[in-house]
Amino acid sequence: MNEKAIGVFDSGVGGLTVLKALIRRLPEESTVYLGDTARVPYGTKSPEVVTRYSLANARLLMRQEIKLLVVACNTASSVSLPALAQQLPFPVIGVIEPGAQAAAAATSTGRVGVIGTPGTIASGAYQSALGRNRPGAQVLARACPLFVPLAEEGWTEGEVVEAIARKDLVDFGPFGIDTLVLGCTHYPMLKGAIANVVGAGVKLVDSAETTATAVEALLAEHKLFAPKGSRPRRRYFVTDLPERFAEIGTRFLEQPVESAELVDIQM
Ligand code: DGL
Repeated sequence: MNEKAIGVFDSGVGGLTVLKALIRRLPEESTVYLGDTARVPYGTKSPEVVTRYSLANARLLMRQEIKLLVVACNTASSVSLPALAQQLPFPVIGVIEPGAQAAAAATSTGRVGVIGTPGTIASGAYQSALGRNRPGAQVLARACPLFVPLAEEGWTEGEVVEAIARKDLVDFGPFGIDTLVLGCTHYPMLKGAIANVVGAGVKLVDSAETTATAVEALLAEHKLFAPKGSRPRRRYFVTDLPERFAEIGTRFLEQPVESAELVDIQM
């Protein structure tokens, strides 16, 4: 059982920012990643559709014999975790709770900003998780729909990116946040531009790192660590365009995605 892989899924390539943190923190664990590149983006779809896709993704990874599932997609985490946890025979973890915990620990004033896809922001998942982790927190949440295509196309800095960020983040200045949650897999790629716009006084919380810490705790709790000295395997599955995934993925993962296998997900 412990030699089984950790399964990770996302709507596409963005979850590789979470996988990168996982590999860094748990280098001996094997991983199997599924990017649902045929159906991306999830961020503009309804909770019902995203949950249906998430269940199908989980079933595909289950056939790869995984011991734990990481829902690396913020949108999927914000709407489908209860359904996944109910139907799967192994632990499931998303990125919202770890991100909210990190933000609760980072904020001094309790005034926290959250940015994410329209679906994540509309779900209210970060807002509730922050309320639980930092009672009395005042949270302002805004969708930044253009950040995902920008990051995918490699537009991560410069005047155009900062002009869009200035428009999307305009409300955070007057609200007076001291912490901003990057509540989407792609946003860590734009960290520099976002920091330039919100200013050095605002801490940026990236849920990838805290999710990796939470996965480590979950492996410990369920006694699921791979045996010491294990040689990890890295496998990648996608539902469309494996070459594009490997190319963009290498940038997100900061190490080569050698190849990705094309799979068909039966709904
Ligand atoms: N992975 C998604 C998220 O973190 C962003 C891309 C999408 O909309 O599917 O919310």
